[in-house]
Amino acid sequence: MRPLNHLNLLALLVTVFASPVAAADAGKGETIAVRWCAACHLVKPGQSQAKADAPPFTAIATRRTYEDLRLFLANPYPRMPDMSLTRDEIADLVAFIKTYGLAPGETPPAPPPVKDDPARPRPG
Ligand code: HEC
Repeated sequence: MRPLNHLNLLALLVTVFASPVAAADAGKGETIAVRWCAACHLVKPGQSQAKADAPPFTAIATRRTYEDLRLFLANPYPRMPDMSLTRDEIADLVAFIKTYGLAPGETPPAPPPVKDDPARPRPG
């Protein structure tokens, strides 16, 4: 993980406050997915090959909630390799998968609280 510089931090804060969907970065998630998940999963429309027993990300998006996906990726069950993803990678991947849709009845989660950061002015 590379440390946040001020520009990144600014971008992060802007994302957190401007968007209802978390600080996670779907673009980064896409990069990770193409690199690490596409060997088995269909991660994007147009991909030519994937393993038959690994569900396509479009299908996963509409049957798993954000929380399901976070829990699964933190601790995948045996048929899928544990890729030792960091929390940030998981958040980015979940954001990417969820660009394909929501599970029935699901609403996007509220953005997570910004963690205490010395660079950030405290309220009050
Ligand atoms: C070596 C092949 C392989 C790789 C690489 C792989 N997966 Fe999987 N994944 C599977 C298989 C097989 C399943 C189905 C597991 C089962 O049903 O028992 C699965 C299941 C899943 C599920 C649960 C789907 C559901 O609805 O039950 C998610 C989410 C998932 N993978 C995400 C990912 C992500 C994100 C990556 C990349 C970081 C990844 N996978 C990399 C093989 C793989």
